[in-house]
Formats: sequence, structure tokens, C-alpha cells
Amino acid sequence: MNKMDTSFPAVINGPLHADRRHDSAHKHVAGSADYIDDMPEPAGMLHAAIGMTDRAHAIITSMDLSAVESAPGVVTVLTAKDFPVNDVSSAHKHDEPVLTEKLVEFHGQPAFVVIGETRAAARQAARRARIEYEDLPAILSVAEAKAAVGTLVTEPLTLRRGDADAALASAPKRLQGQMEIGGQEHFYLEGHISIAIPGEDDEMTIWASTQHPSEIQHMVAHVLEVPSNAVTVFVRRMGGGFGGKETQGNQFAAIAAVAARKLKRAIKIRLDRDEDMTATGKRHDFVIDYDLGFDEEGRIHGVKAEFAARCGFSADLSGPVTDRALFHVDNAYFYPHVEVKSLPLKTNTVSNTAFRGFGGPQGCVGAERFMEEIAYALGKDPLDVRMANFYGEPGSDRVLTPYHQTVEDNVMPRLVAELAEKTDYRKRREEIIAFNKSSRVIRKGIALTPVKFGISFTMTAFNQAGALVHVYQDGSIHLNHGGTEMGQGLYTKVAQVIADCFQVDLDRVKITATTTGKVPNTSATAASSGTDLNGMAAYDAARQIKERLVAFAAEKWKVSESDVEFLPNRVRVGTDIIPFPDFINQAYFARIQLSAAGFYKTPEIHWNRATGQGRPFYYFSYGASVSEVSVDTLTGEYIVNRADVLHDVGHSLNPALDKGQVEGGFIQGMGWLTTEELWWDGKGRLRTHAPSTYKIPLASDKPEIFNVELAEWSVNKLPTIGRSKAVGEPPLVLPISVVEAISMAVASVADYRECPRLDTPTTPERVLMAIERLKTA
Ligand code: MTE
Ligand code: MOS
Repeated sequence: MNKMDTSFPAVINGPLHADRRHDSAHKHVAGSADYIDDMPEPAGMLHAAIGMTDRAHAIITSMDLSAVESAPGVVTVLTAKDFPVNDVSSAHKHDEPVLTEKLVEFHGQPAFVVIGETRAAARQAARRARIEYEDLPAILSVAEAKAAVGTLVTEPLTLRRGDADAALASAPKRLQGQMEIGGQEHFYLEGHISIAIPGEDDEMTIWASTQHPSEIQHMVAHVLEVPSNAVTVFVRRMGGGFGGKETQGNQFAAIAAVAARKLKRAIKIRLDRDEDMTATGKRHDFVIDYDLGFDEEGRIHGVKAEFAARCGFSADLSGPVTDRALFHVDNAYFYPHVEVKSLPLKTNTVSNTAFRGFGGPQGCVGAERFMEEIAYALGKDPLDVRMANFYGEPGSDRVLTPYHQTVEDNVMPRLVAELAEKTDYRKRREEIIAFNKSSRVIRKGIALTPVKFGISFTMTAFNQAGALVHVYQDGSIHLNHGGTEMGQGLYTKVAQVIADCFQVDLDRVKITATTTGKVPNTSATAASSGTDLNGMAAYDAARQIKERLVAFAAEKWKVSESDVEFLPNRVRVGTDIIPFPDFINQAYFARIQLSAAGFYKTPEIHWNRATGQGRPFYYFSYGASVSEVSVDTLTGEYIVNRADVLHDVGHSLNPALDKGQVEGGFIQGMGWLTTEELWWDGKGRLRTHAPSTYKIPLASDKPEIFNVELAEWSVNKLPTIGRSKAVGEPPLVLPISVVEAISMAVASVADYRECPRLDTPTTPERVLMAIERLKTA
């Protein structure tokens, strides 16, 4: 790594920085992209199904599985006792059994596994279990957990700078409020699935739909009590992950592996959609309590806030997720004095997990509500309040975040000014206010909200990656790296990097399934850093091979190294021009090593959780959106008439894919914030466990006018791959503008005197209730 060229050129020719289709796009639409359930099944393979409990909190007093065992097509039934180690806690807290033995901690927690000749046989048999329970009091929501002085699943975090109490006490104006922010089901199109194939001795091969092959490897080794070198994990692609496959696949891979070991047969487990929605974790919902001190200009003096989260029964990723909520409570704003705390509450619900943004979006929703509250309190355009609070340009005294990192790359003022101008925000807002004066039923709203998103894993050690590049004798290239493909286009972007390094056509680079056998000790493909990390690792591998090739050519042709140049699909050595495959073939015969392992670790970052200080993020990604909505004040229904986005991805490696991420992120975030409502009944049963009751956005929910643009002038100031910036998660935060536009339409019924207390998701019911409350206030 010491030889890594850190002055990665901002502009280079070749297949980088160009629109290239996703390597599997044509296969996605033609149905020929293989997902795990499409793979040819090994001979003798059996199928596993989970048996679920139906209490939120209880002791199992008896479990009679005789009817399950005798059901047609059943081969065997496994319970906790069959697991050499009954633990898949990714937080290493031993709070997450594969199968529960006595204590039931959420409605749906798996207690046994049926192995059948077919999947249908196993699933049907699972329903025949007779389980008896002794019920325990269940704590289901944040409110209940707080009222009960709830247990925490992990250590809370406080971020503090300055003296928030003093700033609040002396601020000219002050207000307090509360907001609830709902959770979200991932709704990946491909649910959780694993195939385990037993090998010789202690060997086990796993195919899993996972963002984290290394963790599946470690968990399977842990559960089987074998070393990690006995387990090899493969994943070619996921049908969506969205964070839901960072840790949640562990349990199912462990089940398949233990059954495979026991029966010496290949085992497949694929969850049904209802089971997947019931038994796997979701986005954390939060209740935020805030106290704001500000002045007549709308400038914040001090902020105090508590972010209480429903974490579910186990720690899982709740620690880092609730931490990240705090890392984003500032969003784009400078808080001179700030004290924010997380409260990761244990509840008798499924254990919540990563979801695109990893808690960050919830922090941003809080920040944007602070701005709205202040704007309504002062009778100002919320955009003016936002702009008054933006971080300053480098060198200003308004650049320090609540975690004491300096914002050095702030492009927000420029980005927002451009977007407001381009979308005619000011004029449209005036027109909307005029429209609302005379419109009795339909009310409109408009809002502009920004997003600033810190890029890096806040766990510094995770910011590393490896890659393996082989160049074969015919000049074809085989690429492997530790990142996984879930639709986001990572494989394509990293292949572009390699094609660019060797100056060859993109289709000369073969993209291969991620496997722990080729690149070890990988991090989850998460925190939006897949391209930053794996792109650099692949670049490092290609660089090594290229250096050997250049040295070889210089020696053989007796020219200086600077006289060797990689041209498109050819290599120039002095005055000779050699087709790339011929050149490689000659290098092979000269016994040049044509394979290399690359490595990268993000420089400069560090974080001390105990002091709440450091530089957790390498850089920030920015974006902003303007949304306009129409609300029917008699029914609470609404439509998004128009949304405009301007998003910063630095110097885009692939604008087509990046725009796809921004569009998809916007729509997924809009679903989270408006229609996707998770609802547990009083018994802790998730009643929204299928698309019939859980409303994800449809094509018809898309903004009627939807303009997405990348900030083409942006270049990452830091030497990231091609000077690009991460794009995966930040766009999910953009549609907060939809919520605040709806809020404006609602506020119009009381002449904008009050900031509506609109929680998310802003379902039509909630919108209607907010309208009724304001009308009668
Ligand atoms: N895009 C698609 N199509 N499918 C996904 O599952 N996951 C998101 C985002 N975009 C996801 C996606 C999440 S949660 C993350 S962290 C990033 O992609 C991960 O990929 P990257 O680091 O390569 O951007
Ligand atoms: Mo994304 S939530 O970091 O997998």
C-alpha cells in the first residue's frame, strides 16, 4: 500500500466516468440473472423451514413436535440442542440464539427447524407443533420501554460540544417538541436464502444472499465449532439487501449448515415473505425529544435532544445504528452548543438492524424538523432558517460537528442556491401560499431539504478491503473483490476501474462471485463505501500487475519505463504497438506474475467513542431536493406533484448508475417517510407482514415530475477512487422534503401559525388527524 498512488487523477480517459449499463441489467429484465434459488440443486438436497413461536415474551413450558416429525415428507426436526453453539449474535453479546430453547423474546422467534424432502412439506409440517407457554409481560414500543425505565440492548452514546444548557437558558427564543419516526421493512425482492453443502472432513460451502460473506463464514464456523478455514461462502448477487442482509442472514446460514452437517446432505432454506417480514429485523423507529434555543434570525444557539430507539430483543447492530443517528442530528447545520444522547431500548419485538442510512436518516429527519419548528415559530420561510444554520465554508468558525470533526468540504451553500434557483423555489412558494388562500379542499406545500452524509464505517477497523485480479494468458481479466452486488452496481464500477487501469474494453473484465476463499476478512458491503474501498483495492492490485508489465516491457524492448504506455486495447512500447492479448502472452512466457492481491484502508480516520471525539468520516456527500405536494384536506390523501434533486457524488464513476441510486434512494426514502407503516398489535404480532398491508411505493406514487441531476462540478477533494463520492445511502434522506411539503399543506389550514406535529410515516390517516387537530386548535 505504501506505493499507492494517492494522487489519483481527477480526469482520465477510458471507461471510467462514463455511463455504462449495470453488468446484469439485461439479465435482470430477461430473468436470466441467477439468484440462489435459480441455481442447479445438488443431488439429494433437502429443504429447511423454520417453526415460529407465537408469543412476544414468554417461557416455553412444553414443545410437542411429534406431529411435526410424523408429517409426510419430513426427514427430521432440529431444536436448539442440535446446535453445537446456539448463538449468532453479531454484536458478540450472546443475546441471539439460532433457535430459542426456553425464553421467547418476540412474536415469531424461531424455536425449531423442519427438514423435509420438499420446501412445501417442511413448511406445512412446521405448523403442526404444539407449544405451551407461560406468558411474561411484554414491552413493545419505545413509549412502553421508557415508561418501564427500559433496559438497554447496548451502551448509549452522548455527543457534546460547548454548553447546551447555558445556551438554551440564554437564547432569545426557545421551544421543545417531540417527534416519532417510524421503522421500515427492507422489502428486498429476493428474501433470505442459504444453501449449505457439506464437504470432506469439517468443510462446509455456503451460498447465501448476504452483504457480509465474511460474517456468514465466521458465524457458521462458530456454530459448527470449526475453524474459519473450513467454511467457504459465495455470493454472486442479491435481489436487494438495503442493510437487511448485513447480519440477518447469519441465522439461516447457521441453520442450513448445522442441518447439512448432521444429515450429510445439501440443505436449502428460503423464507416465505411473511416469515421474512416477521422474523428478520427492520429499520429502527425512534422517538425524539428536543429542546432548541435560537434567535430572531432563526440561528440555533443550542440543541439538546434524546434519540430513543426501539431496538428489539437483541443488540445486533443497534449500537452503531443509534450512534449514527447522533452523527447525523446536525445534518447540514452548525450547532454552537449541543448535547445529544441515544437511548437504545430493548423491546420484545424482532431485533432491528441496518437499513440504508443506518440510523443516519432518522437523525436527519430530526434536524429538519428542528428547522421547521424554528421557521414556524418566527413566521419565516424554512429555507431561510436552513440557510442561516448551514455549516460555514472552510476557514469559518462554524465548521465543527457535534463529534468534533471539522467540515472541510462543504458544498451545501452552492448546491442549495443552485437548486433553489433552478426550481424557482421562492416564486413557487409564493404562488402556493396564494393558491392555498383560495383553495378550500386541496392544499399545496413545497419544501427544500438538504442532506449531508458522513462517509466511512464509524467502526474504523471496517474501513479496509481486498481484491484479487488475475490476467490470463489470452489477455482476459478475472476480477474478484470483497464487496457484494445487491443491485447497486458495485461490480460494474469496480470492473470499470480495472478496465481503465489496463485501458481495455469493459467486457474483457470478468466479474466473479464474491467468495471468502479469494478475498478474506472483508467488511460488510455497507456504509455506502463499497466502491470507495473495493475500487481502491482493485486499483491497487491492477497497479501491481501493471508495474511488473512495464518493467518487463522496458527490459525486453530496451526502452525506459516512461516509454511504455497502455493505449486502448494496445500497449505502446517505444515505437512498437502491441495488441493487449499479445503483450500479455509475451509477459507470460517471460514468467511475469500476472496476478495480484490488492488492499486498501481508508486513511486519516479515527474515532474515540468514549470521548465522543474524532474524525469518524473521511468526507461528506451532499444533496438537496425540492418537493411539491397536493393534499386533500378532507381525506388526508396526497400526491407528489414534483420533485427536483441535485446530488453530489464527486466525480461520478458512472453517472447512469449513480443517478439510478439517487432515484431509487429517493423513492425508497419517500416510501419510508410517507406510506410504509409497520404495525404490531397489542400482543406483539406484526400485522403488516405482506404487501397487502404494508404499502411500498408503486410506480403510480412516483412524483409526477421527477428531475434528478448530479452536481457535475463536484470533485472529491480527497484521493478517493477517481475522485468520486459514495452514493448508496445519502439519497434516501432527500425525500424529507416530501414530508415537510406535506406539513406545509397541513399547516395552511391554520394559516401557518403552528408547525404541525406530523410524525412519520405521514400516512393519509396521520395527515388527516393533523389537519383536524389544527382546525380545532
Ligand atoms: N441499491 C440497490 N439496488 N439494492 C440495495 O440493496 N443497498 C443500499 C445502497 N443501494 C442497495 C442499494 C445500501 S443500504 C448500501 S449501504 C449501499 O447500496 C451498499 O453498496 P455500496 O457501498 O456499493 O454503495
Ligand atoms: Mo447499508 S444500511 O450500510 O447496508
